[in-house]
Amino acid sequence: MKTEIIKASGKDLKKAVRKAAGLIRKGELVAFPTETVYGLGGNGLDAEASKKIYAAKGRPSDNPLILHIGDATQLGPLVKDVPETAAKLMDSFWPGPLTLVFRKSELVPAETSGGLDTVAVRMPSDPVANAFLRACKVPVAAPSANLSGRPSPTKAAHVIEDMEGRIACILDGGDVPIGVESTIVDCTGSVPVLLRPGFITLAEMETVVGRIDTDPAVTREGILSRTEVGKPKAPGMKYRHYAPKAPLTVVSGEYGKVRDYIIEHTDSDTGILTVDEHIRDFREGYVLSAGTIADPNTIAHNLFSVLRAFDVLGVKAIFSEDFTDIDIGTAIMNRLLKAAGGHIVSL
Ligand code: TXA
Ligand code: MG
Repeated sequence: MKTEIIKASGKDLKKAVRKAAGLIRKGELVAFPTETVYGLGGNGLDAEASKKIYAAKGRPSDNPLILHIGDATQLGPLVKDVPETAAKLMDSFWPGPLTLVFRKSELVPAETSGGLDTVAVRMPSDPVANAFLRACKVPVAAPSANLSGRPSPTKAAHVIEDMEGRIACILDGGDVPIGVESTIVDCTGSVPVLLRPGFITLAEMETVVGRIDTDPAVTREGILSRTEVGKPKAPGMKYRHYAPKAPLTVVSGEYGKVRDYIIEHTDSDTGILTVDEHIRDFREGYVLSAGTIADPNTIAHNLFSVLRAFDVLGVKAIFSEDFTDIDIGTAIMNRLLKAAGGHIVSL
């Protein structure tokens, strides 16, 4: 299949989104930018389109898709009810990088919801996403637009790398602003549950709705519990998401020790993932900075892009320092530890 790549900015925006929306309405797939990462969209009410999404990504079909809407009035028909906690979170954070899980209505095909009786919905704030979703007039099912298991795409070039020839169209809206996927909260129980940390933090949401529980599987302990800390696990037992091609090890502990450990284990084809403040500490290997500790949002913004850059450089192993576990740091560490398959050395 020939993939059409369309610039979606400035005066071309209207024409571009109209064309892309037309493809969605014909059952084709379109990758589009959002404020978090690029999405791989198809008509969320069309079971065949959802099947195409799974095929294009190489994703297991029991992993549900998020429905994206351009207008809050699109939510009603998709869900059985809107719990009070969800309404409050929507009021505060929509449009924006927050996905909420509801009990689904009959309208949402099982193919879209991965066979679950719930459905995840989000209303992106990105202007290109919003214009595109409004033009589609149907909810758009969209996972991140990467091949299953690879780092999520934060620029059109990443989507082209993974999806060219597999989908009808890519809307190129430039680099995304945030760089890690949306926060996901399940609102179907009596207490909301955080299912994936993201740009909207637990603390911000708790000021709006009070207590929110966290799914133990997404915490640092949860991700690491499948590995013996400090030792690599058998490759077959590791689960890797967001993963670069070379094995990635997170090195955790007091910075001086982390630096020395990485230097000791580095040779000319090793990749080192660090920050601006530390980049001069390393003289060997391919040293890439994700951003600055002074503004952890920069690290979130560049993380996936740097992981992909190591693939291009062809490094044989990657070491990353640990980043703080506060605010956006929770989301960064969740992605980084998964990319490492839970492989961490604690000093
Ligand atoms: O920022 C984002 O959320 C991006 C952009 C494109 O919107 N999308 C994204 O989609 O990250 P994806 O498919 O890569 O990740 C969606 C996650 C998956 O881990 C999936 O299992 C979970 O959301 N999910 C979807 N529906 C769910 C449901 N009904 N219950 C629980 N988890 C659900
Ligand atoms: Mg994804």
